[in-house]
Amino acid sequence: MKYNITVIPGDGIGPEVTEQAKKVLRAVGNVFDHTFLFTETLMGACAIDKTGNPLPDETIELCKKSDAILFGAIGDPKYDNDPTAKVRPEQGLLRLRKELGLFCNVRPVKAYDTLLHNSPLKKDRIEGTDITIYRELTGGIYFGIKELSDDGKHAFDGCSYTVEEIERMAHLAFQAAQKRRKKLTLVDKANVLETSRLWRKAVTALAKQYPDVEVDFLFVDNAAMQLILNPKQFDVILTENLFGDILSDEASVIGGSIGLLASASVGKENALFEPIHGSFPQAKGKDIANPLASILSAAMLLEHLGLMQEAKVVEVAVQKSLELGITTEDINSENPFSTSKVGDFIADYIYNQEDSDMNFQNIHMGQSTII
Ligand code: IPM
Ligand code: MG
Repeated sequence: MKYNITVIPGDGIGPEVTEQAKKVLRAVGNVFDHTFLFTETLMGACAIDKTGNPLPDETIELCKKSDAILFGAIGDPKYDNDPTAKVRPEQGLLRLRKELGLFCNVRPVKAYDTLLHNSPLKKDRIEGTDITIYRELTGGIYFGIKELSDDGKHAFDGCSYTVEEIERMAHLAFQAAQKRRKKLTLVDKANVLETSRLWRKAVTALAKQYPDVEVDFLFVDNAAMQLILNPKQFDVILTENLFGDILSDEASVIGGSIGLLASASVGKENALFEPIHGSFPQAKGKDIANPLASILSAAMLLEHLGLMQEAKVVEVAVQKSLELGITTEDINSENPFSTSKVGDFIADYIYNQEDSDMNFQNIHMGQSTII
């Protein structure tokens, strides 16, 4: 099969990690006889520099026409420290999510056995953690009315949700729970916020359609604590936009590095796949950033295209790189591999999966012909 993939490398380390995901998709294409046609386009600070617009129209058009979108990272310090900037790179990503209707953001969080020692949390607390965060992505305070008074002394961000927005999201989270351990936790702030009370009401009503799923409710402040105290209690976490943003960064600590967390943002027509990490400008161009989140996002992309076996092979290859320590400095400070070498290893593993004699020890020592 032939697939059109729009690639948005973005800012900072975005291009270098996305390059590894493309490398891995090319390997999958060769082994499984698929063609992935990549078309690169601009979004973020790089788009502002070239066109003055963080999301050029051409990017939106390309994304709409493609089978899937692979995105790197967004953001640049020159905008972070300038609250008066009229145009910001992040506006590009937010507008793209809205334009494409990518309302459902899926963020899997796993404690990999080989990386338990990397987490600052105690091993016995996190061992076996396997959570999927379902974050609503096109509503809430991110997209509410924003105001700044003329004298610059009063600012306002409105948070709004409709029952429809909550229900379409909750259906997907319930269905995911049915395929997993059948538990769904709604995280909200229903003791304070009207929008949260609407979430609770709508999710409670919908739960009747999913009698096999156990539902519980947590206030977000408590959830933030429970994620660290006892992350194993969670299966699917369903939450609104802002809480999901915050909790997913927090949850990344369980896996030992934010450089491992992939995500899928899905709507009715389109789907975009991206690491949850930011643009890590300090590492830009140094070939040190962890490409695994981008590679695992490519695995989610494959799943979305219905290529389950292909996605599995990528996941197994990632697992192998973790086991052998063919990993970047964020999780391997002793003997770090570069971004591109981790990508080479994973592509190489995909090409050679059948070859049980492949000597991984040699690769580890840098003796492979490929690495
Ligand atoms: C994320 C990011 C974005 C968000 C930023 C870059 C706008 O933090 O995808 O988690 O807040 O959604
Ligand atoms: Mg975030």
